[in-house]
Amino acid sequence: MYNFWQKLKKPLVGLAPMDGVTDYPMRQIQVSVAKPNVLYTEFVSAEGFIRNSKAFSQKLYFQENERPIIAQIFGYTPEAFAETINQIIEMDFDGIDLNMGCPARKVLGKGGGGALIGNYKLAGKIIEKSLEATKANNPFIMANFSCLCNFRPINFSAVTLF
Ligand SMILES: Cc1cc2nc3c(=O)[nH]c(=O)nc-3n(C[C@H](O)[C@H](O)[C@H](O)COP(=O)(O)O)c2cc1C
Repeated sequence: MYNFWQKLKKPLVGLAPMDGVTDYPMRQIQVSVAKPNVLYTEFVSAEGFIRNSKAFSQKLYFQENERPIIAQIFGYTPEAFAETINQIIEMDFDGIDLNMGCPARKVLGKGGGGALIGNYKLAGKIIEKSLEATKANNPFIMANFSCLCNFRPINFSAVTLF
């Protein structure tokens, strides 16, 4: 199976995904100034995406010079994750990152982002449905448990699922 992580020069250097920051213009600046080993989109709401895919897919626009690039999505319903992945798979990202660490109140309040750290059942279902949705194409699915340091005493740990 294609695994771009193994081909990347170590140590890996990249800018963490940041909502409102790591958008297309910002990533182009990164590429032109000092290209990181890996780039991330801002996170995109799965529930928002399935309601209005045209508007939300603009947030996922990228150019070839940004590869390897990972799309990050967040949400709280396995079906929305699966449907979003079904639709974005043709954009041909190198990987898809499932956000399970965002501490923002509006995300936590609905049970998404960091709330999934304490909800293994739902987190598992989201990963399971997301993997099903990628089966045909096999991009990487990464469940990302990054947190802001003031959120919980959990720092980074990331699980890559094959
Ligand atoms: C403004 C801002 C927006 C962020 N948005 C996201 C996001 O969309 N997805 C995500 O996984 N993490 C997001 N984060 C968390 C960062 O990716 C990073 O994990 C966090 O800042 C901890 O890293 P640091 O200790 O280097 O700051 C955001 C952080 C900041 C400050």
